[in-house]
Amino acid sequence: MASPEPMLEWTEDLSVGVDSIDEDHQAFFRVEPMLEEILASSDSARSMLIESVLNILEEYVEGHFLREQQALAAIDFPGLAVHIKAHDKFAEKVRAIIKDYRQGNLAVVESLGPLISDWITNHIKTMDRQYLGLLTNENVDKRPLVCLLDDPEDDLEF
Ligand SMILES: [Fe+2]
Repeated sequence: MASPEPMLEWTEDLSVGVDSIDEDHQAFFRVEPMLEEILASSDSARSMLIESVLNILEEYVEGHFLREQQALAAIDFPGLAVHIKAHDKFAEKVRAIIKDYRQGNLAVVESLGPLISDWITNHIKTMDRQYLGLLTNENVDKRPLVCLLDDPEDDLEF
């Protein structure tokens, strides 16, 4: 049997210097081990627990991406279009897997773990570093994700 991949952990050197974004990222790092643990268990509440993870993921790809994108747009970040494209591509994949799962293809949920690991390595650890020093606690909407989703049309309020 292949040895398990080392667990990806959020470490201080991954901080982008914005508390709300760091907290979103930290939460996202916890999603994968949580999902793997649920998938490996035979808990009677397994499907309910999987659904909770899917809800967290949906909130992340909508609310967290919105938080970053609104803030990047507000500072005229030069890499905004490329950044949004990366977000959209990931969100599309996540949504397709979730849809497939909810339509009865239960095994598809297992592909989420590798997708999340890849996102952490190739986006959070790399692309998100590009706005280090540009986004700050002062120019990023710090409201909880659920509030961001409630009124995405709102102007930025800090
Ligand atoms: Fe990002």
